[in-house]
Amino acid sequence: MTLDQMVHDQSVKGWIFDLDGVITNTARYHYLAWKQLADEENLPFNEEINEKLRGISRMASLEIIIGGREYSGERKAEMTERKNRYYRALLDQLGADDILPGILPFFERLKRLGRSLAVGSASRNTEFILERLGLVSWFDGVASGSLVSRAKPAPDIFIHAAGQLGLPVKQCVVVEDAESGVTGALVGGFRTVGIGPSGRVGHAHIRLDSTEQLF
Ligand code: G6P
Ligand code: MG
Repeated sequence: MTLDQMVHDQSVKGWIFDLDGVITNTARYHYLAWKQLADEENLPFNEEINEKLRGISRMASLEIIIGGREYSGERKAEMTERKNRYYRALLDQLGADDILPGILPFFERLKRLGRSLAVGSASRNTEFILERLGLVSWFDGVASGSLVSRAKPAPDIFIHAAGQLGLPVKQCVVVEDAESGVTGALVGGFRTVGIGPSGRVGHAHIRLDSTEQLF
């Protein structure tokens, strides 16, 4: 199936978008914030480790960064809070210019066809980021990290988003850039569009190199 066929398929009524890496490229800011924390804690961190954090929740990301090292729950909570402070400070620069290419025209196209739009993201900063990007009014549903306990690759966040749209999963597409996100959507029974290299999102029904190809 091509993207065009999926867009025009009358049985597809809802489109659920991941946030980081699909709507906007915040990966850079996540990287800088984790890097600052890691440097302060003398933990090794680089772009390669950062790539493993795509779609992974904040605490699970920290666990990957600390590897086998032992820290108390309290220390880990403090470190994730500190990382988030650095991240939020960086997000102050965020604006409409940071919406990835192709996203807005694609939203317009879907809305013209009467489709519903939602966000399904692990980020607890989702609402804040959507406000900064000026995108809040596009969405009929916003499902974000704090709403479900099981993170991707569990399908929970997407099922929650479909529920907000009042649609069965079979009538929704999930657009994702993370391996764990595509897996979660497939497990949940969604149709999927993967954004990125085939080594990462090749298991999606449709794969695009970048958001530019959405339009
Ligand atoms: C997204 C990003 C991850 C990030 C997660 C939690 O899924 O791809 O890199 O760790 O959200 O984000 P948060 O804003 O809650 O720290
Ligand atoms: Mg993502």
